[in-house]
Amino acid sequence: MTDHRIAILGGDGIGPEVVAEGCKVLDHLEQLENFTTERVEYDLGGRRYRETGEVLDDATLEELRGFDAIYLGAVGTPDVPPGVIERGLLLKLRFAFDQYVNHRPVRLYPGVSSPVAGLTPERCDFVVVRENTEGVYAGAGGRLYAGTAQEVATQESVNTRHGVERVLRFAFEQARSRRGHLTLVHKTNVLVHAGALWMETFEHLGDTEYDDVTRDYVHVDAACLYFVTQPERFDVVVTENLFGDIITDLGAAVQGGMGLAASGNLDPTRRAPSMFEPVHGSAPDIAGTGRADPVAAVMSLGQMLAFLGEDAAAARIDTAVGVLLGERGGSSGSAYSTAEVGDRLVELVAR
Ligand code: NAD
Ligand code: IPM
Ligand code: MN
Repeated sequence: MTDHRIAILGGDGIGPEVVAEGCKVLDHLEQLENFTTERVEYDLGGRRYRETGEVLDDATLEELRGFDAIYLGAVGTPDVPPGVIERGLLLKLRFAFDQYVNHRPVRLYPGVSSPVAGLTPERCDFVVVRENTEGVYAGAGGRLYAGTAQEVATQESVNTRHGVERVLRFAFEQARSRRGHLTLVHKTNVLVHAGALWMETFEHLGDTEYDDVTRDYVHVDAACLYFVTQPERFDVVVTENLFGDIITDLGAAVQGGMGLAASGNLDPTRRAPSMFEPVHGSAPDIAGTGRADPVAAVMSLGQMLAFLGEDAAAARIDTAVGVLLGERGGSSGSAYSTAEVGDRLVELVAR
């Protein structure tokens, strides 16, 4: 009997490279903390699509539903048209398993040099709670008169009261477990329909159920400014899907690079598996060079272990990453190879 069944989806580009390092670390954590996993690898992504014309068939999707968690590298490759793998695999999983929270910490570790001059770790420690199943990602809209001079393309944002309320509730709970402050990020001055639904629900929940949590609102353009100039403003940030996607790459830059940004696609109800992956993509520009930074993938593994209740193993990862980043210095994309970083993390988790 294994404790946790985990599906491993390396995906494309640097995805399999960084996930391999995460699995190396996991091997050692199992021994150190006395738990077991059964891991099943799935070869999904660009290569499979090119060979079979299939991205993710229904039978595989249902098989994945039976796991306790999914550990994913990255998907998307230049030799497949944009969107085919991204929508057909990654978004399909997020939607099918109703992983309505995308949990993305933004934290500057001691010793890491942020491109923001003078930024210190005490000033940069927050979490972005990104709505993960709605907005423009729902795919509503289409092309009228495609290819003609009269073409009109629309891409609508879907926001349901149910969807907005549940992710806001999660974010309020997060704030309660941290420093007690929640910031809604939106664009209510332009997106008046969706914005009103988000704002009213935010205010209502705050007044009726979470009056112990202080709250404020920041437009998404200003949020980009404050992420860089005043990250200490934030404790928990909650936002809709597309804004959350964009601002978390900015968050990654502020905390030292794409190689340091982790995420969890969560179904807090635990009816279906949650999925853990770095924020970054398949990085075709460095795939195969052995230079991808696996730290984000290992941090995502830490999120997964915490979600599975392996708190001691998750804590080992957090400590090891802290030590590694302190001794390595600089930022993501350092002088060390992918495997060297993984090997060092294996040593450090054992301490
Ligand atoms: P990207 O995140 O792959 O790369 C952006 C930049 O960051 C590149 O310069 C890359 O070299 C660098 N980078 C990313 N991860 C790194 C790491 N671990 N170590 C060092 N440097 C790293 O974004 P992109 O170039 O816009 O997209 C490439 C492909 O990935 C596209 O097909 C896109 O759709 C896909 N994508 C997938 C995911 C995902 O699977 N969750 C996320 C983003 C993009
Ligand atoms: C991410 C990625 C995905 C997103 C893409 C690949 C669909 O950018 O996980 O941040 O937009 O959510
Ligand atoms: Mn993204």
